[in-house]
Amino acid sequence: MLQFELIKTDGHARRGRLTLNHGVVETPIFMPVGTYGTVKGVLPRSLHDMGAQIILGNTFHLWMRPGLDVMASFGGLHGFENWHKPILTDSGGFQVWSLGEMRKITEEGVKFASPVNGDKLFLTPEVSMQIQTVLNSDIVMQFDECTPYETKGHRTTEKEAQVSMELSLRWAKRSQAEFAKLQNPNALFGIVQGGMFENLREASLNALVELDLPGYAIGGVSVGEPKDEMLRIMAHTPHLLPAHKPRYLMGVGTPEDLVEGVVCGVDMFDCVMPTRNARNGHLFTRFGDLKIRNARHKSDHRPIDESCSCYACAGDANVAGMGAGGFSRAYLHHLDRCGEMLGPMLATVHNLHYYLNLMREVRASLDAGTFAEFRRQFAADRARGV
Ligand code: GUN
Ligand code: ZN
Repeated sequence: MLQFELIKTDGHARRGRLTLNHGVVETPIFMPVGTYGTVKGVLPRSLHDMGAQIILGNTFHLWMRPGLDVMASFGGLHGFENWHKPILTDSGGFQVWSLGEMRKITEEGVKFASPVNGDKLFLTPEVSMQIQTVLNSDIVMQFDECTPYETKGHRTTEKEAQVSMELSLRWAKRSQAEFAKLQNPNALFGIVQGGMFENLREASLNALVELDLPGYAIGGVSVGEPKDEMLRIMAHTPHLLPAHKPRYLMGVGTPEDLVEGVVCGVDMFDCVMPTRNARNGHLFTRFGDLKIRNARHKSDHRPIDESCSCYACAGDANVAGMGAGGFSRAYLHHLDRCGEMLGPMLATVHNLHYYLNLMREVRASLDAGTFAEFRRQFAADRARGV
């Protein structure tokens, strides 16, 4: 089940509300990535406190480990990971693609050796739907082939992108048929492919719209293309999708990409950037990015971002024994130097809070009719520098 209500629009930008089996999601939204059934290093309690409304999981990884029997015994991924708000699962198409030379793609599906134990595995649209049905994710992604930017050392040609896109379309139909057969009570999204070619993107989109799925994603971006190519596709495709259905841009991106994605009509985003970059000491702030490894932070008493209300920056006044305020840049720098676990944990909380709060501000400005002004101020603040 899925309901999508458009609350307000401003050009292509939209303020919406998505109702799923495990709860309501206010859009535009950023979805933290939780590939293995955990958003790395973050307690579900913290996710909740930060205002995370929906998180991702992955068909491919959870199929490898712990496997479907364990998952089924918990009634799905919500029970297993003890997160009872909405979950979206990716279909495995992109992850199999990431295996590179390790796999063989045919009309039927993708054959590969398990990276965990070497077992021969065969992932098809039907198997992906069966796994996602056991996971009971609120949003199920079709099985697709993510068209790479480069094929065998050259830029993917239009012909190659077309062949790949058409395969994804046939897999969309098989995904839809299997999803219906399994009587999956959740919502299946189609994925627009077509590489860097506008005509192919439109052909993919039109054929998927014919299937009348409850939502649509744009895939095949952030696959190694230059930034301007990603922005070209982001400006081209989202607003062509049906206005009354949610639109999800897969694997994007920086804070700037998110705000510009909203301008282009995107409702949902996911990206490993806030979590992965946090573990590498790369922090996002209102006033630009900060590298906590840099020696200049060694004795800096200021928090990461004075305007941030996250646990890392502001602490928690309700915790006895905790001083006023949060953690200093000097302390975070020290934790990083020593390889202490708390370093990446606090950095992840901050970065996710930053992304979730950014989208909260986007929603508030859309509600207030001040999105254009917000967009200007956001760009000016980010350019200012920390
Ligand atoms: N994640 C990022 N891009 C893609 C894509 O094209 N397909 C799928 N299934 N997942 C993605
Ligand atoms: Zn913070």
